[in-house]
Amino acid sequence: MKNAVKQKKIQDFQDEIWGYYRTHGRHDMVWRKTTDPYRIVVSEVMLQQTQVDRVTPKYKEFIKQFPNFSALARASLTDVLGAWQGLGYNRRALFLKKLAEIVVEKYKGKLPNDPEVLHALPGIGKATAGSIAAFAFNHPSVFIETNIRRVFIHFFFGDAKKVSDKDISTLVEKTVDQKNPREWYFALMDYGTMLTTKEKENPNRKSAHYVKQKPFTGSDRQVRGKIVALLVKHKSLTARAVARETHEPLERVEKIFVRLEKEGFVRRTGRSFCIVS
Ligand code: ADE
Repeated sequence: MKNAVKQKKIQDFQDEIWGYYRTHGRHDMVWRKTTDPYRIVVSEVMLQQTQVDRVTPKYKEFIKQFPNFSALARASLTDVLGAWQGLGYNRRALFLKKLAEIVVEKYKGKLPNDPEVLHALPGIGKATAGSIAAFAFNHPSVFIETNIRRVFIHFFFGDAKKVSDKDISTLVEKTVDQKNPREWYFALMDYGTMLTTKEKENPNRKSAHYVKQKPFTGSDRQVRGKIVALLVKHKSLTARAVARETHEPLERVEKIFVRLEKEGFVRRTGRSFCIVS
């Protein structure tokens, strides 16, 4: 009997999500009109940490400038970072370019469709591997990102205090539409976005994995962004020049340069730094 109730709840849940999608689905998003694996990868990586409104124009320009894996693999990192300006978290641009190089060299320009193999590529976490497999290959993968998490907590964990992704994952697996996982996940994401405006309290506060975003102003992340932008513009700069330009202490700038160098962003020649080529 318990199982029957659960089955009914799952059915109701699916009906609610599909019903919402039929009338309110965001069908006009450009990346939803394609199944080209390259375009799906670019959009999913951009959407990892940046809002839809900000991604849309950047995505269109990026695809125009780098239309496929091979164009991105051949491009200079400076050009790729230039196209990335305004999206934040520049590391994603570096990863995306490395990913393109691997796809060209190791996979003959064809993106693998297995989520496990995708997960091994630079910058592709478990959730992004799952979303790429679903959107590019209609693979019924099981993944959780912030909007999806919100939907499941809202529906199934109303009374809980803390919810783990493991518990959510069981339900994601039980409810995923086996015939049309691609649109099912679009529908879940749309519903999750709607909940952010409808719910007084963000259901994700109940997630065991909930982390409050740190303020951006004054953060190392902000200074990093400024440094990368300056290097894209001026090609080569000393730490002293960057400190002057950003009004940041030289010591802070130097520390950030050390990290950027370790991560493979910049190269030092004498006192000057430039984006790696
Ligand atoms: N549509 C396709 N991918 C998406 C994403 N990551 N976020 C929101 N809508 C999407």
